[in-house]
Order: sequence, then C-alpha cells, then structure tokens
Amino acid sequence: MSEALLKVDSLNCQFSGLRAVADLSFSVQPGAIKAVIGPNGAGKSTLFNMIAGVTAPTSGAIHFAGVRIDTLPTFRRAELGIARTFQNLQIFREMTVLENVMVGCHLHGKVGVVKALLRGRALRDEESAFRDTAFALLDRFNLAAKADVVAGDLSFGQMKVLELARALASRPRLLLLDEPAAGLPQAEAEHISQIIADLNRDGMTVLLVEHNMRMVMSLSHDILVLNNGQWIAEGTADHVRRHPDVLSAYLGETEHA
Ligand SMILES: Nc1ncnc2c1ncn2[C@@H]1O[C@H](COP(=O)(O)OP(=O)(O)O)[C@@H](O)[C@H]1O
Ligand SMILES: [Mg+2]
Repeated sequence: MSEALLKVDSLNCQFSGLRAVADLSFSVQPGAIKAVIGPNGAGKSTLFNMIAGVTAPTSGAIHFAGVRIDTLPTFRRAELGIARTFQNLQIFREMTVLENVMVGCHLHGKVGVVKALLRGRALRDEESAFRDTAFALLDRFNLAAKADVVAGDLSFGQMKVLELARALASRPRLLLLDEPAAGLPQAEAEHISQIIADLNRDGMTVLLVEHNMRMVMSLSHDILVLNNGQWIAEGTADHVRRHPDVLSAYLGETEHA
C-alpha cells in the first residue's frame, strides 16, 4: 500500500461537555474517494473543520502528504493542497461567477503587495492568467455562459457547482466536500456525482460527506461511518451496509426524529 495522503491519528474535539469527535483514526490513500457518513451530529463537519484548520483539535494529529498539519494555519494547509466546500454553501453572492473562481486562484499569486500597489505589468499578467484558469474551469462545468452574471443570481444547483469550481481553482490534491448534493434534486445530484467521478479519474483524492446514499455507494472506494463522534465501521459499501452497528446508528436517528 502506498503512503496515505491524509492520516488522522487519535483525533479528539471537545466542545465544553460534548465530544464531537472521539479518538478517531483513519487514512485516505492518494487517488481514493472516501466517504464519511453518519447521522446528523455524528461529527462529520467538525472533522472537516479540523482537517481544513478552522477548528483546533483537543488532541491527536493530522498528517497530509507526510507533513503534520494540525498546528498549521488554514492558509498553509490550503497551500499544501487541501481545498474544501461547505455544508452551508459559501460563495460571494455580490461578485460575478468568474470573480468567485478567481478568488480561488489567488492562493498561487506570486505578485507581492508592493507590486500590486504599483499595479504593474506582473500583476496584470497574473490577473489575466487567473482569468483564463477560472474561465476554463467554468467552461468544464458548463458555467462559462454565466461567467459575468452575479453569483447570487445562479440557481442553487449552479451555486453548488460554482463553489466546487472555486475549490478546484487552487489546484488542490485533496478535496473535502461537505454535502455537495444537499438540497439538490436527484438529476442535479447526479451531475455533481459525475463531476466528482471525472475529477477522480484525473487523479483527485476526495473525502466526501454526503447523505445521498445513492451517490455515496456509487462513488466511494471506501466508507467510514461515524456516530456520536466515534468510529463505528469502515470499509466497502457492502461491508458497511451489512454492519449491525451501522444499522442501529441510523435506526436510532429515525427513532429520535
Ligand atoms: N462550534 C461548536 N460548538 C459547540 N458544539 C458544536 C460546534 N460545532 C459542532 N458542535 C456539535 O458537535 C456535534 C457534531 O456536529 P457536526 O460536526 O456538525 O456533525 P455532522 O456534520 O456530522 O452533522 C453536534 O452535536 C454539534 O451540535
Ligand atoms: Mg455536517
């Protein structure tokens, strides 16, 4: 087995009295699509926040491409190649669709502050390269015709695709997708699914949180199941589907609903 791209060791996150993530260990191999599933409140988004650097773990370690990242600031993790989308869609609604994606490109900006203030040639060249990159991404996802539209005017499904395009603009090695199909009708969920499958075919590693089980089962190479912050099962779709603890975790949720 090759070296893991992402490795999580004995990770904990305590919010006052609540253990949102409890002693969690797992790894993601390069080129894999790994799904993280579990009932609401299982700790999935908290896990993503700890990997991306928004929430500090109470204890434990996270390694990315062999580098310990759990103490690094968010932007350093992004520079190393981690990009994400959010459970609650986060786009700049007043900016154009193209500008939204260009924001994602800026991680790789080489032009320093002084040069930028002088508005020199290097800055113009860089902006124009970002514009090309952003436009190519929009084109790939059938959003090129909307490039100059204000992002807030897109349909919800288009906004979800836009957020994904912006994440890709930083040329990540690992994509963290937190419920990319949430709130979408099945046809649009399938479009997102197709995009993820295409990206993965081109080599992208994906950690996917999603409640749409059709999508999870068809896309994932393996599945990690969490409940109350704890690891309860991990493996192929068939393995977790039959696992008694997985069934009871989900039945428990139905009882409380
Ligand atoms: N910032 C926070 N402060 C306190 N509790 C939180 C915070 N974020 C999440 N939680 C709690 O942690 C648990 C896990 O939440 P979350 O990671 O959002 O679950 P999931 O994404 O699996 O639905 C929940 O009980 C939630 O209420
Ligand atoms: Mg969540």
